[in-house]
Amino acid sequence: MNGSYADFVRAETRLQAPPLVPEIRLHLAARATDLWEATEAKLEEKGLPPPYWAFAWPGGRALARYILDNPATARGLAVLDFAAGCGIAAIAAALAGAQSVTASEIDDFALAALDLNCIANGVSVGRHAGDVVALAPAPAWGLILAGDVFYEKPMSERIWPWLKARHAAGARVLVADPGRAYLPGSGLNEIARYDVPTDLDLEDRTIRTTRVLEIA
Ligand SMILES: C[S@@+](CC[C@H](N)C(=O)[O-])C[C@H]1O[C@@H](n2cnc3c(N)ncnc32)[C@H](O)[C@@H]1O
Repeated sequence: MNGSYADFVRAETRLQAPPLVPEIRLHLAARATDLWEATEAKLEEKGLPPPYWAFAWPGGRALARYILDNPATARGLAVLDFAAGCGIAAIAAALAGAQSVTASEIDDFALAALDLNCIANGVSVGRHAGDVVALAPAPAWGLILAGDVFYEKPMSERIWPWLKARHAAGARVLVADPGRAYLPGSGLNEIARYDVPTDLDLEDRTIRTTRVLEIA
C-alpha cells in the first residue's frame, strides 16, 4: 500500500458503516460536503480527480445489499468490481464467497481506500490499477459489477459496449444505478430496487431509488 495515499485517506475519513449496508465498515467522509469541498480543493491543486472514493455511492450500496442478500450471485465466481471507488461491492462479493475478486480503479486514492477498507472487513481483494477497458484480451470474469458508473457521457459511451461485450463473452453483468443521466435506455433487466438513504448535499435528496439491473 502506498503510505502517502493511505495516510491521506485515513486523515480525511472515519471508519463507519454506510446506510443500507451495516455489515460493511468503510473509511468514508465524516460529513459529505465538508470533505468533498476540502478534498476536491486539495486534489484539484495537484490536478487529481474528486474524491469519489470517500463515499459509498447509491449504486455500490445497492449492489452490496443485493449480493449480501443473494450470496449465490457471487459465490465461487471470479468477480470484477469495475470502477470500484471505496470497494463496497467488491467487499460484498468477497464476503459472499467469490472465488476471487478484482477491483478496478483509475484513481490511486481509491485504490488506497480499497486496501484500507478490505483490511477493515477482513477480506482480500485484488486490484487492477488503471483502465481495465483497454485490456486485450479481457480476463474471463464470471461476474462483473458496475455501481454508479453512468454519470458522465464519455465514460458511459465507452464502457457500455465493453460491458455488453463482456456479457457476450460469458460474464454475468450487474449494473446498479440511481437515475444517472447516461444510463442506457435498453438492454438491461431490473432484478432488484432499493430506497437508498443519501446525503442531501451530495444528491439533492435524502433517498435515491436505486435499481440493480442485469445485461439481458
Ligand atoms: C461514482 S464513483 C462509483 C464508485 C463505486 N462503484 C460506488 O458505487 O460507490 C465512480 C468511480 O469510477 C472510477 N472510474 C472512472 N473511470 C474509470 C475507469 N475507466 N476504470 C476504472 N474506474 C474508473 C472513478 O475513479 C470513481 O471512483
